Order: sequence, then structure tokens, then C-alpha cells
Amino acid sequence: MAHLVTLIPGDGIGPEVSEATRRVLDATGVEIEWIVERAGASTLEREGTTLPPRVLDRIRHSRVAIKGPITTPVGSGFRSVNVELRQALDLFASVRPSRSLAGLPTPYPSVDLVVIRENTEDLYQGIEFERGTPEARELRDELMRLSGHEVGEDSGFTVKPISVTGTRRIVRFALDFVGAHDRRKITLGHKANILWFSDGLFRSIGRVEAEARPEVAFEDVEIDQLSMRLVRDPSAFDVLLLPNLYGDIVSDLCAGLVGGLGLAAGANLGWEYAVFEPVHGSAPDIAGTGVANPVAMILSGAMLLRHVGELGAAARVESAVDAVLSEGGVRTPDLGGRSSTDELAEAIRERVAT
Ligand code: NAI
Ligand code: MG
Repeated sequence: MAHLVTLIPGDGIGPEVSEATRRVLDATGVEIEWIVERAGASTLEREGTTLPPRVLDRIRHSRVAIKGPITTPVGSGFRSVNVELRQALDLFASVRPSRSLAGLPTPYPSVDLVVIRENTEDLYQGIEFERGTPEARELRDELMRLSGHEVGEDSGFTVKPISVTGTRRIVRFALDFVGAHDRRKITLGHKANILWFSDGLFRSIGRVEAEARPEVAFEDVEIDQLSMRLVRDPSAFDVLLLPNLYGDIVSDLCAGLVGGLGLAAGANLGWEYAVFEPVHGSAPDIAGTGVANPVAMILSGAMLLRHVGELGAAARVESAVDAVLSEGGVRTPDLGGRSSTDELAEAIRERVAT
């Protein structure tokens, strides 16, 4: 039976890398019934919303989706579609592997890291109060009353909630992930020495959950120190478990360790639904020029194949990417080459098909 997959091409370079990905996945011979749904800038113009409810219904129906990047229109009153999707479908875990690919010159010989990021809470939950509004003034008064702290009158606010429930499920997810993927160690990042009740909670729940699973090596490290140590020696780490904001930042950093955003794949997972997407954004600076690197989305597609049980096909896509990039003849400009999106996708497709 064909796998039902919702495809959201996205904005900017999204449609280009989505088309490339679809071609490569189809070449595996795995039967996929694609349901294409638009979201983002294109539906904002036509339907007045960046995330039509129809799109969520489709994903709930297919349970599995892959999406290109979506531009967050600044100042339009619309929040990020990505954040909305993660919250609406309760995709609480983001999984972002970073692995050195053969033949690409990078500062480190062999990086093999996975960032697991909590996806629904923290500063990204969307609780914000704009400077000068009555709500911001009220919050300021309330903070004065509750804590005795005087906050500047010209302040804006973003709230950072981190819950026991939310932390427990992401920590358990990470512990299971280590077992299921033959990993060695979890490093939990935090800033508990300053942020006692948010990051502090994240760390203490992490420790308690990890103690119950002594077979998994576990450590926690302050996020600033972790950043420094990551850049000095990424091989000292394996699985990084992070709250939402640090996870966003550190996964881009890890992408940089292995050759950039053009290679970084990702998955957003919950108990019920899975949405795969590259880590990069819509890259307006190169959109429409046909030179975007499709590998990040193709590798996200390989993660999708693995998720639906097509392990052999997933491995074939990954080794095709490895082979083409290590031969070096076909590379997009972000990897120092001169090939187009289509040429790189076609080279990978040929490998997968043979
Ligand atoms: P970006 O990731 O789009 O671009 C950063 C830099 O990396 C640019 O120079 C771009 O050309 C390059 N780049 C990114 N992907 C590439 C690829 N596949 N091949 C070659 N070069 C690539 O980040 P930026 O510019 O901060 O964001 C642009 C828009 O994307 C914003 O509206 C942002 O909100 C949105 N965005 C969406 C995401 C998503 O849908 N998951 C994630 C990140 C940003
Ligand atoms: Mg990001």
C-alpha cells in the first residue's frame, strides 16, 4: 500500500528543493501518494492566512508530512507557521542530525551529532507583550507587586515557560532515542545557574529521568560552556538535549560544523504526527536562481522514509548523497561548486535509481 505523505512546498527556495526531494524519493521505488498543500506567503495573498486549517486537516489525515521552509512575514500579524504547526500538532520533539559527509572540506574530520530540541515551550511558546501596550503596563505593575522588581517602562516582554510535563516527555524521548539509534550519551544544555525556575527545572527533571535509566550516559552542561566545547571538539558529544531556543541556535551551529545549512535535515515528531523539514529557511537571497542546495531536504526525506519503515530506501538515499558529494563533480555553490539544484538532484536521483 502506498504511503500517504502531505507535501508543503513552502516559500522562497522551498518549491525548488521540494521538487528535487520528491523526484529522489520517488526514484527509490517506494510508493508514495503525495498530497500537495500550500502554506505560507502564497496562501497569505490568496486566502488571508499563512496556515489554512485545511493544511492541518491533511496532515492529521496522512499523519506524515514533509515541508519546505516558510517565510515568516515580519510585522504581518502572523506568527511563524513552523511554530504554529509544531504547537497545533503537538510535535514536541525536533530531531536534527549533523554528520560529516565524505569529501567535504570542513574544520573537523568526523562530526556525528544529533540535536534533540524541545519544540513547544520556552521563549518560543509565543507569550509576548509589546512595549507600551496596556497589557505590558499591567504586567509590569504585577511584576512589581509580585517580585519587587522594577522593570523599565519602555520594556517589551517574552515569557519563558518550561513545565515538568513538557520536560519529562522530551527527556524520555531522548533516552528512548539513544537506545533505539545506538547512541552513546546525552548532554543536556541549560543555564540553570541564572534561570533557576525554567532551565533549572529542565536540568533537574533531566537528571531524575536519566537516573532511572543508568544504561544511558548522561551529563548536563551550561549552554555557554557547551557552545565553546562544541566548537573546540565536537567529537566529545553525541546527543544534545536542549530547550527550544538553545536548540534552535545550537542546531544551526552544528549544521555549520559539517558544511552549512544546505546539508542539515530535521524532523518534528510527536506521539501522533511527524513533519520532516530542512533546518534552513526560505533563503530569499538565492530564491528563484536555481542554485539552492536540495540535500538538506532530501536527507529530511530519508528520515521520513525511515520513519515509515522503509529502511532500505532511506539508506539508499543517504548513501547516494554521500557518493555524489564525495565524488565532488556535482556540487551547489554553497559547497564550493557550480552546479544547479536540478543537476545535484538529478545526480542523486540517478544513484538512487540504479
Ligand atoms: P535562511 O536559512 O533562509 O538563510 C541563511 C543563509 O543560508 C542564506 O545566505 C541562504 O542563502 C543560505 N541557505 C539556506 N538554505 C540554503 C540552501 N538549501 N542552499 C544554499 N544556501 C542556503 O535563513 P534566514 O535568511 O534567516 O531566513 C529567511 C526566511 O526563512 C525568514 O522568513 C525565516 O523566518 C524563514 N525560516 C523558516 C524556517 C522554516 O520554515 N523551518 C527556518 C528558518 C528560517
Ligand atoms: Mg532555526
